[in-house]
Amino acid sequence: MKPELHKITQISPDQSIVCIIGRDEIPEWLKLTKSEKEYALKQVLAKEEYVIINSYYKTTYLVTINEAHPEFRIKEELRKCASNLKKIIKSNNHDELVIASYHAFKGAVEAFAEGLLLSFYSFGKYKTKKEKEDKKNYPSRLLFYQGPGDEDIKWLTDLTDSVYMIRDLINEPVNHLNAPALADEIRKIGNTAGFSVEVLTKGKIEALKMGGLLAVNKGSIDPPVFCILEWKPEKALNSNPIVLVGKGIVYDTGGLNIKTGDYMDNMKGDMAGAAAVAGVMYTIARTGIPLHVIGLIPSTDNRPGGNAYAQGDIITMYNKMTVEVGNTDAEGRMILADAISYASKFKPLLIIDIATLTGSAAMTFSGQAIAVMGNAGRDYFKLLEECGNEVYERTAELPFWEEYGEMIKSDIADIKNVGGREAGAITAGKFLENFAEYPLIHMDIAGPGSLKKDDYYRLKDGPGSGVRLLSTFLKRFAEDLKARK
Ligand code: BES
Ligand code: ZN
Ligand code: ZN
Repeated sequence: MKPELHKITQISPDQSIVCIIGRDEIPEWLKLTKSEKEYALKQVLAKEEYVIINSYYKTTYLVTINEAHPEFRIKEELRKCASNLKKIIKSNNHDELVIASYHAFKGAVEAFAEGLLLSFYSFGKYKTKKEKEDKKNYPSRLLFYQGPGDEDIKWLTDLTDSVYMIRDLINEPVNHLNAPALADEIRKIGNTAGFSVEVLTKGKIEALKMGGLLAVNKGSIDPPVFCILEWKPEKALNSNPIVLVGKGIVYDTGGLNIKTGDYMDNMKGDMAGAAAVAGVMYTIARTGIPLHVIGLIPSTDNRPGGNAYAQGDIITMYNKMTVEVGNTDAEGRMILADAISYASKFKPLLIIDIATLTGSAAMTFSGQAIAVMGNAGRDYFKLLEECGNEVYERTAELPFWEEYGEMIKSDIADIKNVGGREAGAITAGKFLENFAEYPLIHMDIAGPGSLKKDDYYRLKDGPGSGVRLLSTFLKRFAEDLKARK
């Protein structure tokens, strides 16, 4: 179980504690003995990342920060330090653990707690030997002393709950989570968080003529779904909604252009964009962000089969444009395109799509950055970059020049779904732009959305990329709107 978070105003002498400190002083209220203090100071001066003092009744973890670094970097160092300490904290079997800071800046305690909480996650659902489960021995409560206020604690609780929830979804294999099952899960998330969910099933998708989604679904034995999530609080500050679109490919075999070698590895996670959208909707609804936000999730698997769509096919999309299929493995853009044109119905202020879209983005940035591009205003990109640094889900913007759009011209249809080997992440974004009648930001999470090994608190397989970034972006967006009113 994930530890609960609480605020406390007093520390009892036998409570184990993590205290974040600068390089010079150790607070009195830690009640260390003279020799413990001397030892600790020596270690701190030696620039150790942390010092552990085992007293008879308690353990004290002194975590040092490098005050010369900018705050957003220190926060990340704290998240990583928490992840480094995870094993030791676990082996010490604390029922409760206090987290406090001394001379550290606002947000330091939350960052450490966030890193710790995100490191505690494990996907143990299919382990039959429960005693092996990694979840045991974690503190059941993290107690904040002189740190965050109630609102900050609520934000951290809801945000990390959301990451846990969507990691579960991403890690779920396709034999347990096909597209209709994903829709069921999204419905449940909506019920818990308080946003509405409408699920369009195959008949409705056919009636709407969503050609992209239907084409990709042709090789599947399961029907496609199209989920519409809506959070519309009475006090919404925006009159035109923000629309989030998430790629919900529950498994990507490549289709008839089948993925060879080990390229199918972790393709159960090709719905990480969809999961991120559900996660963001969860966080903003739980915390009551005063924005009207709509989430669109087209979902199916992509498989070869007797009736599967084929290279060379020409597909009429939802917006009536025709697309020549150059490669059935470029399926994500086919389903996103329909969702992006469907978004026009809501006259959105901004459309943001998030998708594990191209190997090209993963090759360029590895797990370190989310590739972003689009035609939306500069202010949106600036805010996204700022939030990206803040939560350390960093964004790297790619050019979106019209020349890249020429690479997906087709001789026989309006456009092609592939643009050759070069600039793959950008041509994918340009493809999507054709379907956007409103400002678009496209986020390709193929790199950080699926990791081969743990990267500190970003755990392997489905680390849950994009949720912390987009939730923070919307929170800040609302704050900025409010300040301007
Ligand atoms: N889901 C993949 C992209 C992907 C690759 C995500 C690696 C995560 C890790 C996507 O559908 C895909 O197959 N893209 C192709 C497009 C190509 C055929 C134009 C790719 O990038 O190779
Ligand atoms: Zn693919
Ligand atoms: Zn895919």
